[in-house]
Amino acid sequence: SVDLNELVENALDFTRIQWKDDAEAKGINIKIQKELSILPFIAGSASELREVITNLINNAIDAMPQGGQIKIKTFKKDSYVALIVEDTGVGIPKALRDRIFDPFFTTKGVQSTGLGLSVSYGIINRHRGTLKVDSVEGKGTAFTISLPIAEKPAEEEKVTPMPKEHRKACILVIEDEEQVRDIFSAILEKGGHEVEVVSDGRRGIEKFEKREFDLVFTDLGMPGMSGWQVAEKIKAINGRVPVILVSGWNIEMKEQEIKD
Ligand SMILES: Nc1ncnc2c1ncn2[C@@H]1O[C@H](COP(=O)(O)OP(=O)(O)OP(=O)(O)O)[C@@H](O)[C@H]1O
Ligand SMILES: [Mg+2]
Repeated sequence: SVDLNELVENALDFTRIQWKDDAEAKGINIKIQKELSILPFIAGSASELREVITNLINNAIDAMPQGGQIKIKTFKKDSYVALIVEDTGVGIPKALRDRIFDPFFTTKGVQSTGLGLSVSYGIINRHRGTLKVDSVEGKGTAFTISLPIAEKPAEEEKVTPMPKEHRKACILVIEDEEQVRDIFSAILEKGGHEVEVVSDGRRGIEKFEKREFDLVFTDLGMPGMSGWQVAEKIKAINGRVPVILVSGWNIEMKEQEIKD
């Protein structure tokens, strides 16, 4: 899970040269103002979301050749977390507002690709969020990202964590290839976890219905039920158990990362 506030700090670090060093060298001043509130986690890719925030900050800097202020605000609203990047720059003319999210649209000449906002839009869209723009010509522009809060059981927060060495997870591994299955269970058992292995999705679901698991690994491409179908079923039975989809040797995290 991702903490948006942390990504804001990262993005500000990444762009420090532009808003601080370069600006100072040009004799202008760009002030950064942060209004970050404590946020629930969101599900998704930290690196992708960090890239979006970095893009928005860079656009804000470009829009203020005379200097100005960038305000970054985060807050929770209903089942969403929102992030606003607001500048006091040149603004976007009404006639262009529909086109700024188009790939290759740029007003900055050949050195710019015009991909920043279209890529950002795609990333936010894939995270089931929205990216919106408000702008007043000559006054400034605000981009607002909204992202759904990750589902997480409320009681989980209250549980006192056990000391690490005693923390044992009960893990279900669904994998049709025997070799992969053996390696997986060997690694997990070595980590002190209790592991149950089955060779197909149907058996996996049966096992899952019978007892409680903390975590499920499932292969993506299996004869019979695919990993996606297995994950869907398991989520329907108990949405709190993280399901990790494994394809070949590439492990893709789904919804939640494994804690430790
Ligand atoms: N904060 C902003 N203020 C004013 N105009 C903006 C702002 N953000 C984006 N724009 C306008 O939208 C256009 C597209 O932005 P986008 O980030 O997609 O591409 P770019 O910044 O031109 O190039 P790249 O991001 O690839 O370097 C910009 O060229 C600019 O005209
Ligand atoms: Mg850009």
